[in-house]
Formats: sequence, C-alpha cells, structure tokens
Amino acid sequence: MWHSELNEAVVHDLALQPGERVVDLGAGAGAATAVAARRGAQVLAVDPMPFMRTVLGLRRRLHRQGDAIEVRDGAAEAIPAADGSVDALWTVNTLHHWTDRDAAARELARVLVKGGRVLLLDEAFDDAAHPEHAHFQERRRRSGLHFDEVDPASLAEALRAAGFAQAEGSRTRFAGRPVKLIRATR
Ligand SMILES: C[S@@+](CC[C@H](N)C(=O)[O-])C[C@H]1O[C@@H](n2cnc3c(N)ncnc32)[C@H](O)[C@@H]1O
Repeated sequence: MWHSELNEAVVHDLALQPGERVVDLGAGAGAATAVAARRGAQVLAVDPMPFMRTVLGLRRRLHRQGDAIEVRDGAAEAIPAADGSVDALWTVNTLHHWTDRDAAARELARVLVKGGRVLLLDEAFDDAAHPEHAHFQERRRRSGLHFDEVDPASLAEALRAAGFAQAEGSRTRFAGRPVKLIRATR
C-alpha cells in the first residue's frame, strides 16, 4: 500500500524526532517509511521479499527525503542493524508472518537503544467489527492460506523476557480499526 492511515497513525504515535534512527520492519511498499522520512527521521526499511525491496528502492528514489531512507534485506528474526543503534521501531501487519517469536524478541532487544520505543501491530481481521472481516474470511477460505494466530499478550511477555523494561499487549482499536497491538520500551 502506497498510503495507509494505519501506518501514518503508527508513525505519529511514536512521536519520531528529526534525526532519530528508526526501523520500519516488514516495510512492504513503504507507507510508514515515507511518512517517517518526511518527519526527519533516518529510516531503515527492512523487508525479506526482493519484490518489496524493489518497490521500496523506487519509492526511495522518488521521495524528497530519499537520502534519509535505507532499504535492506532482513526480517524480524534477523534485523540488519547494529546493537543498540535504533531509537524506535514499528511493524504493521507482519506479525502473522513471523516464524520465530522468541528470536524476533531477542533481535528487537538487541537493536534498540535503552529507552527505545516499539510499536507492533496486526489488524484483527478475525474480529467481526473489522470492516474487511467478511472479505478476509472469504479470501482465507478460498486460498487455504494459513496465517499464524498472534497473541499480543504472549508476544509482550517474550519481549519482557528478552530484556524490555516494559511491554504490554492487547486487542484494542487503533486508527479506527480492531488490532492486536504491542507497545514496548527497551
Ligand atoms: C501485509 S505486508 C505489510 C507491509 C507494510 N508494513 C504495510 O503495512 O503496508 C507484510 C510484509 O511483511 C513482510 N514479512 C514477511 N515475513 C516477515 C518477517 N519474518 N519479518 C518481517 N517482515 C516480514 C512481507 O515481505 C511483507 O512486505
């Protein structure tokens, strides 16, 4: 998605400051990356899919603050950032793809500075109140695709076990949509 209210709301919520080093994990087409760069952050846009990195590279070239964006191969389980080098990190609609929750929690703990902010969220398409619930159920039935269930409370627990000072997981609403959300501070 080129633009997304949800991604904009995430960047806004994290209150990024100019010059902060931030990671958009599973950046996709870079909806949040573009907003964060406009706010003056130095953005590392990480995605494991070559096609998405091609799109991100194109977006970087077109973006007025493109020099503030770096595109790298990686995933939650292997984040291409040095230890203690990231001020804020977020991910939108990738949690159901994560293959190793505990390894991902350790990676997040490794790359964040002390006091660094994290916001992880997946839209709760399984919630009947979600506007795309029926469409999603139908697509899932037809494709037979499997998506891992994300339990926000247990992911928060994994973050605390990995060294986060605070981590809370809940099912809530964000930008008007039902979501599974984890908020954490390193
Ligand atoms: C539904 S898209 C969301 C893209 C973007 N965050 C957005 O909200 O527009 C899911 C993205 O997660 C990426 N992904 C898949 N496995 C991942 C993993 N283990 N860690 C991080 N991202 C992953 C995919 O390549 C894809 O770009």
